[in-house]
Amino acid sequence: MYKPEGWTNRGTSANSLIRRSALATGKVAPSSNRDEAMTTTRLAVIGAGLIGREHCALACTHPRVVLAGIADTALEAEHYAGQLGVPFFSDFETLLDEIRPDGVIIALPNALHEKAGLCCLERGIPSLIEKPIADTISSAKSLVEKSEATDVPILVGHHRRHSPDIREARRIVRSGELGDLVAVNGMWMADKPEAYFDAEWRRRRGGGPVLINLIHDIDCLRHIVGEIESVRAIASNRTRGFDVEDTVSVALRFENGALGSFLISDAVASPFTWEHTSGQALYFPHQPGDCYYFGGREASLAVPSMTVWRHDGTDKNWQDPFVHQRVNLDGSGAYQNQIDHFLAVISGDATPVVSARDAMLSLAATLAIDVAAREDRIVTIREMIA
Ligand SMILES: NC(=O)c1ccc[n+]([C@@H]2O[C@H](COP(=O)([O-])OP(=O)(O)OC[C@H]3O[C@@H](n4cnc5c(N)ncnc54)[C@H](O)[C@@H]3O)[C@@H](O)[C@H]2O)c1
Repeated sequence: MYKPEGWTNRGTSANSLIRRSALATGKVAPSSNRDEAMTTTRLAVIGAGLIGREHCALACTHPRVVLAGIADTALEAEHYAGQLGVPFFSDFETLLDEIRPDGVIIALPNALHEKAGLCCLERGIPSLIEKPIADTISSAKSLVEKSEATDVPILVGHHRRHSPDIREARRIVRSGELGDLVAVNGMWMADKPEAYFDAEWRRRRGGGPVLINLIHDIDCLRHIVGEIESVRAIASNRTRGFDVEDTVSVALRFENGALGSFLISDAVASPFTWEHTSGQALYFPHQPGDCYYFGGREASLAVPSMTVWRHDGTDKNWQDPFVHQRVNLDGSGAYQNQIDHFLAVISGDATPVVSARDAMLSLAATLAIDVAAREDRIVTIREMIA
């Protein structure tokens, strides 16, 4: 185990360093004074890569959190932990046994989620596992079964569910304000840079926009509309010419009878993604607009502009003028809300907004789209989890 100089003072040094850098990028709000009398939760982060470091930054700037340890196998991660003054471990099981954190954030490559998640469950430690819950349904199932058998919670990092626009969209659709939901439409179209594809796995099956990006949108649609019953899809690799798809058109049938369509492409120059339109994503410019449309018998909702459209007339049909209304949001941030929610899960004050079982169904629906495109047939979610 690596213990940087003065690591026992880690709370102060980590917090001041991270608060400066995170504030400089405008991604986190200044924390209030940690000296106030309040309960402190000791979190550990397993996997301090791209998103793991964002979690570290959030933990360090949170007034009720101490970043108690980092586990990673990479030398750069050890240096990073040293900069923060946080105890570092190259083996995550040793971290769990020595640090005994109150909660753990698992930000490892997908294939390692199952092992790390099970290690936390065995020790009775609640975890926030980054999305997808696992790389296969059978790994997801083992996490679901163990979490439910031990009653130790897993929260899965589908962070969009903590975003005010997605929360409000779910409330509006489920309140019946739109009337019976008839149809749903969505888009995720962006242009990934050439260098992104230097990593060989991103050119192969499983490394494309369906499993990397679409899983977020599928999770949002399930959360807002309800369970997906079956899918169809057509895929193309014409633009980039790799083995993996670059563009997919998806047809969705929801269990409540609504139909949906979704277009995804990583080869289109456009701002029509949730990342761009919501202003909530970490590495994307904010370009206000919409990426999801929910169509009901009485009204329709565009998200994330949160515009509700309805006819203004007595007959209320397509020839009547429209009125529209903007729904106000609370201005909070998805990642900040997610960590607050994780703290409530750890203290037993909340059950996970995205449980292991829930996240398994998002994985199943996303894998179903991959199967549907390759086998050119309707695929049900039921057969994916059988
Ligand atoms: N919710 C989001 O916004 C979001 C964004 C990006 C990635 N993710 C998810 O987060 C996870 C990590 O993605 P990333 O982009 O940060 O990957 P990454 O490759 O940047 O980071 C993974 C880290 O895990 C470490 N690691 C690998 N094997 C290890 C082991 N056996 N023990 C300890 N550490 C080990 C690596 O050294 C690396 O630092 C993935 O599941 C990904 O899907 C989520």
